[in-house]
Amino acid sequence: IEDEWPGEPSQSYWREQLDIAEEELRQGAWAACERRAAASALGDSGRARWLAARALDGAAEAGKDNRLLSRAIAAYVHLLKMNERLSDAKLLEVARRAIDRIQFRGTYLSAEPIYRLLIRRFPHDVNHRNNLTVTFLMANRADLASEVLQDTLRLWPNDRVALAHHGFVMKNHYNNLEEAVVYLQRALEDDAGPPDAARFYYHLGDALLQLGRPRDAQLVHARAAALGHFLSAAQRSLYNVPRLRGRPWWPVEDTPYAGLARALERSWRDVLREGEEAGAAYEREKEGLMERGEWSQLELFVRGREVGGRCARAPVTCALVRSEPAAAGCRRGQVKFSAMRAGTHVRAHVGPTNCRLRLHLALSNTDGTYIRVHNETRQWRVGKTFIFDDSFEHEVWHNGTGTRIVLIVDLWHPDLTAAERRQLPAI
Ligand code: LMR
Ligand code: MN
Repeated sequence: IEDEWPGEPSQSYWREQLDIAEEELRQGAWAACERRAAASALGDSGRARWLAARALDGAAEAGKDNRLLSRAIAAYVHLLKMNERLSDAKLLEVARRAIDRIQFRGTYLSAEPIYRLLIRRFPHDVNHRNNLTVTFLMANRADLASEVLQDTLRLWPNDRVALAHHGFVMKNHYNNLEEAVVYLQRALEDDAGPPDAARFYYHLGDALLQLGRPRDAQLVHARAAALGHFLSAAQRSLYNVPRLRGRPWWPVEDTPYAGLARALERSWRDVLREGEEAGAAYEREKEGLMERGEWSQLELFVRGREVGGRCARAPVTCALVRSEPAAAGCRRGQVKFSAMRAGTHVRAHVGPTNCRLRLHLALSNTDGTYIRVHNETRQWRVGKTFIFDDSFEHEVWHNGTGTRIVLIVDLWHPDLTAAERRQLPAI
C-alpha cells in the first residue's frame, strides 16, 4: 500500500508495541511513547522513528525545551534517512515538520539537506528550490541563495518568485541596482505577482529612487497602492494597522503629546548638553540611507526599552521621555539623539510601520537644514518640536554649517488601543 511506513515489524508483539506507543502519543504521554518507540528491535521501523520524533517534538513544545527540540529535529532527520523507502506523501509530511521545527529553532542552515532531498525527489516542483533560497536569506547567506537562484532561473527563467528574490538579492546584498530593477520589474509584470509581493514593490520603487528615476518609482508606488500593498503611494511602510489616520505632518496640538512637546522645549538646553556629552557613544547610521555626508545616532530607548544603562548619562532627557508612557513604551520605535554633519543628504525613504509618530526636538545648528515629508518641507528651529509620521516618504538635507543635533522621540500612534500597544509585535 502506497501510504504505509516502511519496515513494519513482522512480529505481532512489536506491532502491538507500536500501537500502544501511538496511543501514548495521542494521550500526550511523551516520555513513555518515546521510550517504547526507541526499542532497538524497532530500529528499522519507519513508524517507530516517526513516533519517537513526534513524542520528542510534543515534549519539547509542552516544556518549551530547546534541547528536546534539537533531539526531535535529529529524530526527524533520522527518519528521513529512510527516504528511498518513504512514499511521496510521507516524505513530504516528515520533511515539512522537520523544516518547520528547524525554522522555529532558528538553525536555518541545517534545513539545507532536507531541501536538497526534496529537490532531488520532486525535481519538477520549483517551490522547494524557492523555499531553500528563502532559508538561505534568513540565515544571512545571500551568497548561497544566489547559487540556488541561478540554478532555478536556468530551469525556470520566468518563475516570478525566483525573479523577485534575485532582484532583491542584487539590490540589498550586491548593490547592483540596475540588475535589481530589471528582475523586480519582470517579477511584478502585469501586477500578477504573488499575494505577498508588497516588499518587492517596495524594493523596486526604492531601487528606482536610488537610480534617480523618481517618475518611474512613482508609477510603481501607485500600482502597489492600488493593489492594496501600501497604504498609499506616499505611505509605504509594510507593518501597518490599516485603520490608523495617516497624515504626513501632525500639528502637536492635534496629538495627545503636546504636554511632552512643551516640557521638552522648556528643557532643551539640558537635553542638548546630555546629547553633546555622550559624544563618543554615537554610532554611524548603517541602513545606507545617506546619499552623501555623515550621520550618527545615539539610541536611548529601542523597542520600548532603555538601551543598557544609557539613561544614567542622560537623566533629564530620560525622565522627560519616561513621563510619557507612549514614548518610553513605544515598542515600534526608538528614542535617540541624531547628529548630522553639514553637507549630508538623506535620500527619500520610509519607516517600517504606521504605528508610530515621530517627534523631533531640535537642539543645534539648524540653519540650512530641511526635512521634506511627503510634499511639505519644513525646517528645524533650535528649542522647538514638530511631529511627523515617518511611514510617509521623507528626505533630509543639511546645507548649513556645523553638526545638527536633534532628539527623536517615537510615540505610539494616538489611534492605537491599549491592547494593541501591548500586543503588537515589536519592531
Ligand atoms: C529620519 O527620520 O529619517 C530623519 O528625520 C532623521 C534625522 O535625524 O533627521
Ligand atoms: Mn527616516
